[in-house]
Amino acid sequence: MQVLTNISTLYRVPADGAHDEVDAVNDAAVVWEGDTIRYAGPASELPRQFSEAQTFDAGGGCVVPGLIDCHTHLCFGGWRGDEFAARLEGASYQEIQAAGGGINATVRATREADASTLRERASRVLADMAGLGVTTVEAKSGYGLDRDNEIKQLEVYRALAAAQPIEIIPTFLGAHLVPVEYRDERDDYVSLLCDSLIPEVAERGLARFCDAFIEDKAFSLDEGRRILESARSNGLGVKIHADQLSAGGGAGLAAELGAVSAEHLEYASDADIRAMAAADTVAVSLPIASLYLREPFLPARKWIEAGARVAVATDFNPGSAPSYHLHLAMTLAAVHQRMSPAEVLRGVTSHAARAIGMAGTHGSLMPGYRADLAVIDAPDINHWLYHFRPNACRRTLKSGRWIAAA
Ligand code: NIG
Ligand code: FE
Repeated sequence: MQVLTNISTLYRVPADGAHDEVDAVNDAAVVWEGDTIRYAGPASELPRQFSEAQTFDAGGGCVVPGLIDCHTHLCFGGWRGDEFAARLEGASYQEIQAAGGGINATVRATREADASTLRERASRVLADMAGLGVTTVEAKSGYGLDRDNEIKQLEVYRALAAAQPIEIIPTFLGAHLVPVEYRDERDDYVSLLCDSLIPEVAERGLARFCDAFIEDKAFSLDEGRRILESARSNGLGVKIHADQLSAGGGAGLAAELGAVSAEHLEYASDADIRAMAAADTVAVSLPIASLYLREPFLPARKWIEAGARVAVATDFNPGSAPSYHLHLAMTLAAVHQRMSPAEVLRGVTSHAARAIGMAGTHGSLMPGYRADLAVIDAPDINHWLYHFRPNACRRTLKSGRWIAAA
């Protein structure tokens, strides 16, 4: 049994309730036993049975549930700094893709890289993320786009899950783009996904979710429906990259299919916003991608007023979002998506947990939840989001063990 004391503000973040309900407690203590929270509340009311526990000092900082980055493309080869420079000169993301760059460039680099190189790169990112207070990461494939290379990425995630402390939730994104060798036989690629890759990935337990990029130049709504229905019937949960660069109806499809989440969504229609809220499909906002692509930010007020849950994630990838700094995404969500610090906190904890099917066990500090937390060097979340620094996180606890300390 272990206890953390000297907490200025503790955010318990209940799984349900209003979007800005974070249940803040001043002068608090947290107790955990093994990997489970036993007590989280005022230090003055700490039950006597816990007073003998091994004690840690939060140094007067605030304590939040371990952060969940619920949307990343963690494993990839190469980088694309040249495209960043070209976009600054005026080239668009779509023009670069049409010229053979973009996702295709990363597919070439990822196919060339061996699994141990990919694993080593991703493992360094995970260690940095742990230092930032992140305890759970969703990670997509999607840079292989053929059987062996998609499986290679998912196997990297499996190996990393066993070798380091951050929990990894793997998602199959074979439907990221039609690979160049199938350019004139799109249907054959969709059939390969539906009839062969999705069943194999599901059968071997290599992914928990299946995602599809529904966009002009990626997959049509009908192709997306076919792919995701196959995923569902093979027992995978469903996610959609929807309405990122144009209004394509992906958000509506996510609601129709009962997807756990849909992501990006900057161009989603009002009707689709209502449909997603009614279906309780989490809206995952990715403000770092909006920043780098100079695209509009998610109009989060509209979503929250419609009753939707808005999560916040990095989208870490070598093209649209080359940063895994979740704190940066959080401050952007506050400033540009007009979310309050409390709404943003739910976006990276309880709502993010729901977006990866882990509501009820992760993303909250209520007794019974997983003992995942971050000690932040700030008296409260207003100060944390406002005073952006290289790293405001002092210590990170994952499943009851300290995994990072400043
Ligand atoms: O989520 N939109 C599609 N996929 C990624 C970007 C991938 C890339 O540029 O490599 C995204 O933004
Ligand atoms: Fe993405």
